[in-house]
Amino acid sequence: MFQSSSMLATEPSDYVAPLFHGPPQAIEALQAGLLARPAHIEPKYLYDALGSSLFSAITQLPEYYPTRCEAEILRDHAADIAQHVGKVKALIDLGAGDCIKAEKLFPSLRPEMYIPIDISVEYLHSAVQRLKNTYRDLNIAPIGDDFHHDLRLPDTIPPSGRLFFYPGSSIGNLDPDHALALLTRIRTYCDEGGLLIGVDRVKSRDILEPAYDDALHLTAAFNLNLLRHVNQRLGSDFDVQQWQHVAHYDEAHARIQMHLQAQTDVDIRWPHGQRAFCKGERIHTENSYKYTPEGFRDLLTRAGFSYVEHWSDACGWFSVFSARA
Ligand code: AVJ
Repeated sequence: MFQSSSMLATEPSDYVAPLFHGPPQAIEALQAGLLARPAHIEPKYLYDALGSSLFSAITQLPEYYPTRCEAEILRDHAADIAQHVGKVKALIDLGAGDCIKAEKLFPSLRPEMYIPIDISVEYLHSAVQRLKNTYRDLNIAPIGDDFHHDLRLPDTIPPSGRLFFYPGSSIGNLDPDHALALLTRIRTYCDEGGLLIGVDRVKSRDILEPAYDDALHLTAAFNLNLLRHVNQRLGSDFDVQQWQHVAHYDEAHARIQMHLQAQTDVDIRWPHGQRAFCKGERIHTENSYKYTPEGFRDLLTRAGFSYVEHWSDACGWFSVFSARA
């Protein structure tokens, strides 16, 4: 580990190999983001083991409405949703995690095959073991992959009756161009199937901002923990104490933006690089785009889906869309 700054000479030949890991391209992308002006770090770094636990805690906060609203919709409109999606042979779960959201759909959708996809293979493995014991007739075929970068499906999944499930308004992390690209890619896999997707809605700043800046400061911890994760991956020396969580609603772009703001002048060093931040300077860590029902319907149509239906919670804060080819 790097402790003393004297070890951090500027010549690469002077380095003692630090304890960092990750594929070289990921390290390159991290460095490029840190050196950019303004600096940015990809939101995937929010999710190490502690980050995933913190996110799970966030979903239980009174301020964080999306998870509850989506669960309400999937529960209260289960029959209508099942009717719109039609016969499901294979349920393909994008970002499955603990598989609990998809599991709640099993009674109404009755899939023959379940394909959970998640970047975290260990997490997936234990969830799949649990499901296999409960649903002995269900064919479960997990895939450990980052579907954002490369969505591939094994040939063993029949072309008819595929339902992609993309809950949680995770699509909101992508800017609209990239969201359209991902939806278009999903569309090419479901000529005879469809997509069931959760989307957070445009609404008052007074509801949005507390959801991303809660009274218990769990979202602040979630955002700041990204720096600890980056330290592990990159061998950098961020001191969490020197940074502050900032979340604000950018109404013009209909997105929540999360940043980390330097509370003082700080120099960050890592093997082969360094970056000085002035007091008040920010690192962008996440966008969370919000949509109107019309806006998201339009995106699905542009992605090539023909039959689009959506359901809302009682407050009209969240939508679940079913889109068919
Ligand atoms: C998991 C991406 C849907 O954008 O609401 C929660 C992540 N960030 N609090 C969201 C998140 C801050 C969340 N998504």
